[in-house]
Amino acid sequence: MDPAAIEQLLEQAHATHRGIFIVGPGKLSLIEDRLPETAFTKEGIVTASLGNCRCSSDNKAIQQFTRHARIPRNAERVALGHETVQLVLHAPPASGLRPGDVVAITPGHSSTKVDPVSFEPSPEGVLAALGYSYTHLGGLRTFNVVPIKSIKIVRDQGFGALFNIVRDLPPWASLNTLAHAEPFACCYGALKNTFVLEADGEFTYGLPPRCRLAYLGGTSRMAMINLGIVSALPESEQPMAVAITGSPAKLKILERTELITQLRRRGVRVELLDRAAPDLLEKLRKIGPFEVVFTNYPSQEIYDQAVAIIARGGNINNYAGAVDPDIGYNMKIARATRTPTLRDEARARLAFLHHPLSPTDFRRRHGPQPGGLLLLAGFAAAPDRLRGYLEALPAGQRVACAEPGLAASLRAQFPALDFTADADGRVDDAVIAEGGAAARDAYAVLEPRLQRGAAVTFADGESSIFIRSRRAHYDTRHQICGPEVPWTMTNTSEPQSEDMAIQVAKPVDLDWLVAGIAGLYHAVEMIGDVAEREPFGSFFTLVQLPELPYVRVAAADFRAKARELGGAGEAGRAAKALLEAAPELEKNGGRWSRRVEELLYAGYGVAYPLG
Ligand SMILES: NC(=O)c1ccc[n+]([C@@H]2O[C@H](COP(=O)([O-])OP(=O)(O)OC[C@H]3O[C@@H](n4cnc5c(N)ncnc54)[C@H](OP(=O)(O)O)[C@@H]3O)[C@@H](O)[C@H]2O)c1
Repeated sequence: MDPAAIEQLLEQAHATHRGIFIVGPGKLSLIEDRLPETAFTKEGIVTASLGNCRCSSDNKAIQQFTRHARIPRNAERVALGHETVQLVLHAPPASGLRPGDVVAITPGHSSTKVDPVSFEPSPEGVLAALGYSYTHLGGLRTFNVVPIKSIKIVRDQGFGALFNIVRDLPPWASLNTLAHAEPFACCYGALKNTFVLEADGEFTYGLPPRCRLAYLGGTSRMAMINLGIVSALPESEQPMAVAITGSPAKLKILERTELITQLRRRGVRVELLDRAAPDLLEKLRKIGPFEVVFTNYPSQEIYDQAVAIIARGGNINNYAGAVDPDIGYNMKIARATRTPTLRDEARARLAFLHHPLSPTDFRRRHGPQPGGLLLLAGFAAAPDRLRGYLEALPAGQRVACAEPGLAASLRAQFPALDFTADADGRVDDAVIAEGGAAARDAYAVLEPRLQRGAAVTFADGESSIFIRSRRAHYDTRHQICGPEVPWTMTNTSEPQSEDMAIQVAKPVDLDWLVAGIAGLYHAVEMIGDVAEREPFGSFFTLVQLPELPYVRVAAADFRAKARELGGAGEAGRAAKALLEAAPELEKNGGRWSRRVEELLYAGYGVAYPLG
């Protein structure tokens, strides 16, 4: 972009400008604000937002406000928007950025609870993230500042590069397609995180080739992006069958998409199923069982469907984490096979536990978490068994017993083990003995204490437990381990830089998904309407063309809105922009594209930033 234009934007960034903030539960507001002057020193990176896509997860944050896992408890307002593409205006050389760089920002900034200003660890803190945790950074602010120290913090937290710089963009790629780098990475990461535990104990990652795959609540935008990635896999790795459940109206739209047509043409069986059909489960079972199931809508009904159709050893992706803390997955655990000796039992059971290599690494390893706390529960009536487990533990292992007083009596007998942990502290590994209701209740008490990536195994099995979706999605990301366990569970919600970089470097065209747009000043209306009606597709905010109204992407709608706006003042600029772009939509069948963006910018009288 022309350096003079960047200088001009930087000048404007010093002044008051507008942004969209969550200001209370269910409350969004377009507010005037300015950046602190420290933003323009060697401590800050200043950016202009070019565009932002609306995400359903925004809605959960809007509803919950300070009860959300990523929003500070004491926040008065937070800047909204994490699916964003931005233009760098000011960057100290140490940042590795240059003014004029177009960037997609990695949204996950900490995988452990921190104070989002100092980034110091804090039990009362948040999982700091773009669009949830800050006042001066969000996709729906005109101008933003990112402290330069965040680059190192995000890398240290395992998310990779904070800024994914756009270079060598194909000429067709649009701002919208770049803003989709974030949801692309969510879906790409979700597929990468999927794993199957083979009979020999090895993990195989990614979608199993020729599997059966189900998207429940699958007319959602994220399911479409996910399926778009799946459809780009080599044919030998594509699923043999895909089932998508949704409302008849949206399934009808889906039926006509190029995505579904192409998959079918390649021999993939694609079944689109009415989510309200009384015989839905029966139909799903006829296609399945499914090796991989994505739950794209958070409800008890969807979670129950997932459990009913998953293949043994399959993977349920708890993709749509729940707002309701009391809904989740019922898991039926089979009876454990007896081993010849207690020593064998303990060794095998401890080896069943498995963890990710780091909080942000999809690869896994067997055994208790190094340096972690292992909890033994339900051993009070079986002292020999308990001793068997303690004997199997490596020297220095931190260990606690759920039953009060039990650990104290063992300290002298096992001096090599570390019994000093707070018996109510956070747990990395747990072995729960006893089955039935006792095991179920022990798990229910334990779940809130699990660390992120924790592992739990049931020494006797034969129990039914309830895994809370909200906790597992945002907080614990734990696994239930052992051969008695019917399925594994994954989640994603903090996309990594390396996955965003794929979309930035070689974008998948996601313009076909755009159903509606708005300028910044009309985005609150758009977000509210989409939350209420849940229409099909993506909804994109053009931050630099703030007066553009909320409008459906269709030539007739562009023209009708232009007529409503009339020809005077700022509204006149917006009307002119819509009229410039309408013929292109007419020509291309109402499809969003870079050309449409260029025409809107030209009509509005603003330089197109990817030019
Ligand atoms: N894990 C992650 O990293 C991640 C990332 C982004 C988003 N998410 C989550 O993924 C979910 C989907 O997000 P999105 O942006 O793709 O959503 P979206 O496009 O707004 O779609 C929501 C879908 O829910 C369906 N739906 C509505 N009511 C339903 C019900 N009672 N039962 C079943 N389905 C129902 C609707 O389909 P029909 O009208 O056809 O039924 C609609 O298509 C959200 O919960 C979001 O927070 C997760």
